[in-house]
Amino acid sequence: MNAVDPALLPLTAEVGDDGRLAVGGVDLCDLAEAEGTPLFVYDEAHLRQRCREAVAAFGPGVAYASKAFLCLAMARLVHEEGMHLDVATGGELHVALAAGVPPTDLKLHGNNKSRGELVRARSLGVRLVVDSFDELDRLERLHADDGVVARVLVRVTPGVEAHTHEYVMTGQVDSKFGFGLAGGDAARALSRARSSAATEVVGLHVHIGSQIFLAGSFAKAVEVLADFVRPLDLPELCMGGGLGVPYVEGEEAPSISEWATVLHDSFRAAGIDAQVTAEPGRSIVAGAGVTLYRVGTIKDIPGVRTYVSVDGGMSDNPRPVLYGSGYEAFLPGNPSAERPRLVTVVGKHCESGDIVVRDARVPADLAVGDVLCTPVTGAYGYSMASNYNKVPRPAAVFVAGGQARVVVRRETLDDLLRLDS
Ligand code: LLP
Repeated sequence: MNAVDPALLPLTAEVGDDGRLAVGGVDLCDLAEAEGTPLFVYDEAHLRQRCREAVAAFGPGVAYASKAFLCLAMARLVHEEGMHLDVATGGELHVALAAGVPPTDLKLHGNNKSRGELVRARSLGVRLVVDSFDELDRLERLHADDGVVARVLVRVTPGVEAHTHEYVMTGQVDSKFGFGLAGGDAARALSRARSSAATEVVGLHVHIGSQIFLAGSFAKAVEVLADFVRPLDLPELCMGGGLGVPYVEGEEAPSISEWATVLHDSFRAAGIDAQVTAEPGRSIVAGAGVTLYRVGTIKDIPGVRTYVSVDGGMSDNPRPVLYGSGYEAFLPGNPSAERPRLVTVVGKHCESGDIVVRDARVPADLAVGDVLCTPVTGAYGYSMASNYNKVPRPAAVFVAGGQARVVVRRETLDDLLRLDS
């Protein structure tokens, strides 16, 4: 019944005297009118606060996992706040470099990096997270050609099953990522990389999965790794990302600082004294972002369900379809309204799976034409957006100090033709 939980809204969200919601001093309904919908809105102060928290907790080597949300403005903001960036493909690398992030502040991931990706990253001094024996072969062949030595972290799969969705779990034995610890591959990869002229090993890398609420899962990973790591005397231990965030009422997650404390304490307890670092993505951007939609049709099937259709859907947020993820929905025109009505918010795409919020509580007077907001959409929404059904991708705006600036413009219908010949 109750109004949306303010804890799910961006840090600067504020209800004005007129009862409407503003973020960064910008009225969300006015913004929807000015910029159109769907629209991704990011609270710049929230983004900066999370980056600062990460730097304070882990030190300046902590990297933002750019796959969660990347554009030039985001890369610049993260860099200004003193974080490094983790890029997972040559495409993410390209955007980060175009934003002016120094290559030495970048780290390239990937279980199947192409020769071209490796050549570009090595030549610029981008660190590589080595993921396979084939990649080590490739680096040795490249070194034989050009003599460039790659600075690498070796990715280890500790065999820990984090409690999260199967598609975003990565630390278990049966994984396409990294070198398994139990079978001895991690030790073999490390000794090969250390003795190879092609690579300089600067650290170990571990990532057990994403959207993890239990600090104990991270402590478990440290425990499993401890005996392996202790004798290595490596300068850097990167524990990846994965800290969960609350999406719906009643969910709770550790803060970035609490997460760092668990990791530091676990390594200290295991007698390991290396620089512990991390790559948070979701916990930096998820809560900073909201999506604004416009309600277009309402279909009531008595005794069955009410469908509320909005002007976006699985093309701007595929997470409900992919992972069954839940969200809240509310009206920024009246965020304090009680929400007694149970509806299913759907998108405009040509399939029934196109669900935005399966069981959404909304105000009783929700009507066609209203601006509807889903909070906590800052991570893996825009970054996984598509043009399915030839729907142009939304714009993204940063709001701060009463100003909104478009950081990614809305796609036009002509943009949908630009690759066709
Ligand atoms: N480091 C590595 C090596 C990763 O693979 C990931 C995420 C991260 C860091 C950042 O994890 P985070 O802090 O964001 O949890 N599309 C999915 C999430 C996939 C995450 C993939 N890797 C979703 O929407 O939930």
